[in-house]
Amino acid sequence: MARHLITSAIPYINGIKHLGNLVGSQLPADLFARYQRARGNEVMFICATDEHGTPAELAAAKAGKDVADYCAEMHDVQAEIARGFRLSFDHFGRSSSAQNRVLTQHFAVKLAEAGLIREVTEKQMYSITDGRFLPDRYIEGTCPNCGFESARGDQCDNCTKQLDPVDLINPRSVISGSTDLELRETKHLFLRQSEMRSKLQDWIDSKTDWPLLTTSIAKKWLNDGDGLQDRGITRDLHWGVPAQFEGAPWSGMDGKVFYVWFDAPIEYIAATEEWADKTGGDWARWWRTDRGADDVTYTQFMGKDNVPFHTLSFPATILGSNEPWKLVDYIKSFNYLNYDGGQFSTSRGRGVFMDQALEILPADYWRWWLLSHAPESADSEFTWENFQTSVNKDLADVLGNFVSRITKFCRSKFGEALPAGGAWGEREAALIDELNTRIRAYETFMEEKEVRKAAAELRAIWVAGNEYLQAAAPWTVFKTDPDQAAAQTRLALNLVRLYAVLSAPFIPDASEAMLAGMQTEDRSWPADAKAALEALPVGHAFTTPEVLFRKIADEEREDWQQRFAGTRG
Ligand code: MF3
Ligand code: ZN
Repeated sequence: MARHLITSAIPYINGIKHLGNLVGSQLPADLFARYQRARGNEVMFICATDEHGTPAELAAAKAGKDVADYCAEMHDVQAEIARGFRLSFDHFGRSSSAQNRVLTQHFAVKLAEAGLIREVTEKQMYSITDGRFLPDRYIEGTCPNCGFESARGDQCDNCTKQLDPVDLINPRSVISGSTDLELRETKHLFLRQSEMRSKLQDWIDSKTDWPLLTTSIAKKWLNDGDGLQDRGITRDLHWGVPAQFEGAPWSGMDGKVFYVWFDAPIEYIAATEEWADKTGGDWARWWRTDRGADDVTYTQFMGKDNVPFHTLSFPATILGSNEPWKLVDYIKSFNYLNYDGGQFSTSRGRGVFMDQALEILPADYWRWWLLSHAPESADSEFTWENFQTSVNKDLADVLGNFVSRITKFCRSKFGEALPAGGAWGEREAALIDELNTRIRAYETFMEEKEVRKAAAELRAIWVAGNEYLQAAAPWTVFKTDPDQAAAQTRLALNLVRLYAVLSAPFIPDASEAMLAGMQTEDRSWPADAKAALEALPVGHAFTTPEVLFRKIADEEREDWQQRFAGTRG
């Protein structure tokens, strides 16, 4: 039995994610986790909310809430939506947990012991009115280059010039609008990532099986970018993991916290500790190679914007600690999903967000479309027409129709149990051959995390059954040779169970409905199609399931198109 540690990038706490975020990390991670479990392997599937940093503080302030309360509430909201999408996390943690605080501070100490931390004193903008230092992007002013009045401290959105906050004319705080700003000295901890360049280079170079999207981003940052400059890992903020603590090998860091990107990936480990504390399980056998994690295969899922942090920054933390932590074995990254000719936009309410999606259709409809159109080799686009076609054809016409046709036929001619009589012939042998070939291909794509190809293969498996039924036509055969029709019907009813097992990673609810209809708990993965098609014996009772998938009507589609088009532009 193999052991799979699987993590999805942990979503920010502020706000509900859109479908593009979902398909870029949590959903394909869930697909892989479900598949590995179905194959009988041991899985630890971890996700969490990413709760620290200025955006969380500001979102809480805007909502008029204490930041800790705000995060607790939003965590529950996100957890509920994740359940709605059937994301099968073994634990959905919180980066603000005590476990993560302790572990983040531990890593910082280890990095310091390895000589990889240096203290830097620099000048930063301080807002007297707000009583805090302002991160660059929370300062706005007039661009010295083009005169644009809302240039941010890090960059002018109008002329794209990279800026320093001190360059801005009439700088003001984005938080309060105050212009009462001054430069103040502040001390920060820097991680000497530059020291780690060759170690990281060797490690990335050894990953010859990684997707091109992942390695090309990693190499770009390693070679020609600023990716491995020493970076500040602390911030002048209140909400976060305190940078001054008992046993810290530095002083003068009171009132400062670790940078959110430093503690967030550490939460992958800390969330497993949270799981262990809750269940009495052993987290170390997943994460410590000196305590049993040697034979673990660790796979991460994320959108492309997260790749630098997972190929360089987090590995720098892990490797720099000089402790035997489990490093990631495979990073599956995704391009972006666009929305109907543009981008998803949170501020403009453009596109479908996770909560809204579940209000209009069940999870499986979305899971199927998103996964079968995952933005793997390039960005992909959600359009309502494409969604409607995909649901109506693949789910309703191909899979749903197959299930309802054969169960209804059997009920009307033989009753609700698998009928006796007849034997299989060449047509059945040909189907079994095709299924065996396709199931092996499906397994390979799933192992390789080729999401679209796996979806296409699964669809082909559904189509094969449909074509068989169409050609065998037991409803015609029944008139002259009821025994033969019975044999065909037995096969097709067994196919329903087989489809439930194979499809479960993509559409878990429909899969459960099919198994319930077939009145079986037999979820065993098909080693051989012939044996799988004999699993339910003559006389086995079933119930005819309700419609598995309904079709999307044109009027609904137009309605939704309007509703999610966004408020402006
Ligand atoms: N919160 C980040 C985002 O939504 C992802 C953090 S992933 C982790 O893009 F590595 F930090 F865990
Ligand atoms: Zn400008």
